[in-house]
Amino acid sequence: MQLTLPDILHASDLQIARGLLVGAPWADGKGSAGSQAAQVKNNNQLPYDCEASQAISAMVFRGLERSALFLTAALPRKIFPPRINRYAGAANHYGNHVDSAIRTLADGQRVRSDISCTVFLSEPGEYVGGELTIGEPGGETGGERRVKLPAGHAVLYPGNSVHQVQPVTRGERLACFFWIESLVRSEEQRRLLFDMDMALMQLRQAYGESAATTALTGSYHNLLRMWAET
Ligand code: NI
Repeated sequence: MQLTLPDILHASDLQIARGLLVGAPWADGKGSAGSQAAQVKNNNQLPYDCEASQAISAMVFRGLERSALFLTAALPRKIFPPRINRYAGAANHYGNHVDSAIRTLADGQRVRSDISCTVFLSEPGEYVGGELTIGEPGGETGGERRVKLPAGHAVLYPGNSVHQVQPVTRGERLACFFWIESLVRSEEQRRLLFDMDMALMQLRQAYGESAATTALTGSYHNLLRMWAET
């Protein structure tokens, strides 16, 4: 499932983030890529421990906590720390690749990359190209989508998709990227839960609370209880 999350960062967050990124310690993005991805990765990224990374990650986490849509769509269990990246000049693209399934945190804890998320930090008009192109999970041909969102918006997409960032031919594309391990590993089960939760919300808005919405909410939680790994 691919989903847009509007306004993960507010205008005031973005202004602070952009200020922090001026003169930030950009490094070659190949440093964190697996061997397949390293062959096609050509961008810059920030070390996790720099001031800008830490501050922007904290803002993104606050934004995710505010987003009911994120919580119901991702059912997050663990989040791998956000990475800030830049596509500009000669380091301007990231060719077709798949992300590693398992990432290891500094403390040795492992995170499974069920869902990928990109938060856009630049406005679409600030750069030419730079679309995030997302293929079908598993790499089947066709069904490719191109995503270029307003600054502060985010996109969730399946962690097992083949994807790329198109070359930025003018300007600078700043973004923040991270993986989520979901309580519900299966994309299909997560999708069913998400659709059910959305439909329940619409029912409540239209008709208020009823015995039927309570029963359906019970079914939602029973399915979540059946499928979640905590
Ligand atoms: Ni990737």
